[in-house]
Amino acid sequence: MSVDPKMGRATAGLADQPDALRGACTFANLTLPEPLPAEPMGLVMEWINLAGTSKTQPNPNAMTLATVDGQGRPSARIVLCRKIDAARGVFVFYTNYDSRKGLEAEGAGGGAGGGHVALVFHWDHLDRQIRIEGRVTRSPEAESDAYFATRPALSRVAAWASDQSRPLASRAQLLEQNRAAEARFGVVRRGEQDSEVEVPPGLVVPRPGNWGGFRVWAEHVELWLGHSTRLHDRARWSRALTASEVDGAAGYAGGGWTCTRLQP
Ligand SMILES: Cc1cc2nc3c(=O)[nH]c(=O)nc-3n(C[C@H](O)[C@H](O)[C@H](O)COP(=O)(O)O)c2cc1C
Repeated sequence: MSVDPKMGRATAGLADQPDALRGACTFANLTLPEPLPAEPMGLVMEWINLAGTSKTQPNPNAMTLATVDGQGRPSARIVLCRKIDAARGVFVFYTNYDSRKGLEAEGAGGGAGGGHVALVFHWDHLDRQIRIEGRVTRSPEAESDAYFATRPALSRVAAWASDQSRPLASRAQLLEQNRAAEARFGVVRRGEQDSEVEVPPGLVVPRPGNWGGFRVWAEHVELWLGHSTRLHDRARWSRALTASEVDGAAGYAGGGWTCTRLQP
């Protein structure tokens, strides 16, 4: 930590920090296969599985989701990847369709990026990054229902309590909205702790109509492997997507992949 004399406040000294932390990181100096595989999803699944089994971060399925608004201005946030359909090249996350990301992803109001999003997975301890650019569609209702039913009871109730991305007057307002949703579903709350809550046995909470899955259909996939000499290994696969009904819902059919290595 150092003090910036112009700003008069402590700065994190981020320029120096990475080297100090590098000790925790051992570059395995791996490279991508040569020749590259004809399609990327096999490697994607290998890397995701490795990130999970290495157990070095609580959410190895966390990914950055980037969207753009109607003027083409980007925003990004973390969401959890809940399913990958390797055969179709599809990544699934769940959210509120009326949230900022939901509206931007779908281009509500004619947004510039309507239907296009980007995803990034980063596993620092593995020196790996996966970038995906693609088209987005809503998951079929039955798939969202099935996933919602697997969520813990209080999470299902809370999905009714939050108008995600809308302003709140106070934290108390959110708790009040949550109490109202709990009362609606017969949950008895005796205090703020979850241990002070009584959930009726067999509680059924329907999925809110504005909450569900998005399928991201990969159009471009880039794999990046870090190298201690900065001669990182990068390769990008691309394919064409054609609108097509899939599982009774809007989706895409993917053409064949082409691939190329990229300079790091
Ligand atoms: C580790 C982590 C996981 C998250 N997972 C999700 C998720 O799966 N779905 C979601 O809607 N928000 C998730 N969030 C919250 C989002 O990052 C974001 O704050 C929220 O969705 C509102 O974003 P928006 O206003 O841009 O729509 C997660 C945040 C973190 C830090």
